[in-house]
Amino acid sequence: MTYIPEDILQSIREAADIRQVVQEFVPLKKRGKNWVGLCPFHSDNDPSFTVNEEKQIFYCFGCGEGGNVFKFLMKIQGLSFKGAAKALAQRYGITIPERPLSEKAKKKKRLREQLIDITQAASTYFSRLLKESVSAQKARHYLEKRSLKDETVESFDLGWAEESWDGLIRFLEKEGMDLGLAEEAGLIIKRTNAPGWYDRFRGRIMFPIRDHVGNIVAFGGRTIGLAGQEEQPKYINSPESPIYHKGKILYGLFQNKAAIRKAGLGLVVEGYMDVVSLWQHGIRQAVASLGTALTEEQARRMRGVTKEWVLLFDGDEAGLKAATRALPICYKVDLRPKVLVLPQGEDPDSLVRERGRAELEKLLKSAVSGIDFLIEAGKTHFGTDTEGVLKTIDTALEAISMVGDSVRKSLLVGNIARKLGVREESLWQSLKERSQKDRRLKRPSPASNTAQGASSLSRPVARIGNRAEEKVIGFLLSYPQYIERFMNLSLEIWLEDSTLCGLWDAMTHIHEMTGGLNLTELYNNLEHAPLLRTVAMRLASDFPPCNDVEIMVKDLEHYCQGRKKQALRKQLLQQLRDQGDSEDCESLLKGLLSLR
Ligand code: CTP
Ligand code: MN
Repeated sequence: MTYIPEDILQSIREAADIRQVVQEFVPLKKRGKNWVGLCPFHSDNDPSFTVNEEKQIFYCFGCGEGGNVFKFLMKIQGLSFKGAAKALAQRYGITIPERPLSEKAKKKKRLREQLIDITQAASTYFSRLLKESVSAQKARHYLEKRSLKDETVESFDLGWAEESWDGLIRFLEKEGMDLGLAEEAGLIIKRTNAPGWYDRFRGRIMFPIRDHVGNIVAFGGRTIGLAGQEEQPKYINSPESPIYHKGKILYGLFQNKAAIRKAGLGLVVEGYMDVVSLWQHGIRQAVASLGTALTEEQARRMRGVTKEWVLLFDGDEAGLKAATRALPICYKVDLRPKVLVLPQGEDPDSLVRERGRAELEKLLKSAVSGIDFLIEAGKTHFGTDTEGVLKTIDTALEAISMVGDSVRKSLLVGNIARKLGVREESLWQSLKERSQKDRRLKRPSPASNTAQGASSLSRPVARIGNRAEEKVIGFLLSYPQYIERFMNLSLEIWLEDSTLCGLWDAMTHIHEMTGGLNLTELYNNLEHAPLLRTVAMRLASDFPPCNDVEIMVKDLEHYCQGRKKQALRKQLLQQLRDQGDSEDCESLLKGLLSLR
């Protein structure tokens, strides 16, 4: 992400002429000191849209929309603040400099690069062994037994770790690699009773795990049934490291992303072998969460590729539990999950090997929507007496409560009502109680609600513009550990105040570079933007300590969510006006309804 320093913003402000920019979108006529035209932000018959060149602002007397040239471009083209600034910089020939990283960010970046070098080197070593080494005969035999072809082995860079305590160590030493770093990458483990290290992976088929840009960041290693391995776990995996955050990575996503996008459908499976084996059978659409529960971050990654996913689960109770946990997360990030329960005793790998691709594809067609699955599974599992139905409703509503789009939500509620024979109104009532309960959990009880509790905040926040924005930024500067929770609330599109917007920009930049928000770092980075720096310092020091941070966070999140929706709604409305009666209208309308 490029960060735009304040002095460059200043040059853009000075260079840009609002009348010129507006006139590219709106015909203007001179009237007195001002220029007027039909407002592009509401349906306007009588020119009420005014541009004042002297002040470099626009204002509409009809709808009240107004602001500077940045705001105009943001609104009319649906750009972020940064996007608008970039567009203007380009138009007026201003170069936005590549900003040098801070020392800490540089160090962190360097460490990541070094670790990735080592995992990459290790992977090359494992692959070579699998292909060439005599000791890998057993491994090659094992893969043959599982009918993996060379092409598959190569596409996934499968490898072999020898049955030795220091095979990798010796290789890395020969390559002049730093063993301390190899330990940090999780490849080798420090000995407890002697100096030195030993290899983590021994006598295992190696599955390199790639991050979303294709760097190898970790490994999974599978036993092949050697003597002495019976007691060991079937798979072992690299531990978390500066380059590997398990909850953020999906195995196979890098390799299969393009095919998933093209097909408009992805599959979520459990294991390495499932991804690899499906790939070999021409189904290049699977990703694996690697034996752990699906996380929201993983679901967001999926969402970035396509909305349609089928989750493949075992038919046992563990499968039901996993589905019940994963589905609300999918709905929360606006995926359209379906579920396929596999025949007893099968996993995707065994199924496709034994019955072939066509059969699996047929089964995939029979996948049911997440909600239908919860209803059906609930009926079987909890029974159809009153208590059972109540439990089923509860699980289904848990998932539905996450759905953002109100049209979809309403269809889903209608669906449960029909299938379980309950009245829609009672389901809506129950959803409402649910959200009230959630909110009660988020809000302070009257007793704890003293001093700087969040309730003092919720009212003014809702009412005043920039004071509330200041509060959000001030809070994040005082409690920077919470910034991550605000990153997807699109502050850049709705912050009215350009100073705050610039500050937010700088804060997210730092977070992106360092994975956190350190104030000293921020202030250093703002060295050339004295205004931003002063405001940052003031906001940070003025923010009163709060006695219930969690409540404060929830309240601020709620506020930001509202502002984000409002901003998106305006953008959509604009698009609607631009679209006239084209076909996309329907989806825009739906989008609009969901933002009500
Ligand atoms: N897993 C793990 N550690 C284990 C067992 C399993 O990390 N001891 C993870 C692996 O990511 C594995 C997934 O859980 O791929 C699913 O486990 P399982 O179904 O037991 O293995 P399969 O993927 O079926 O592997 P295989 O077919 O090779 O037995
Ligand atoms: Mn298997």
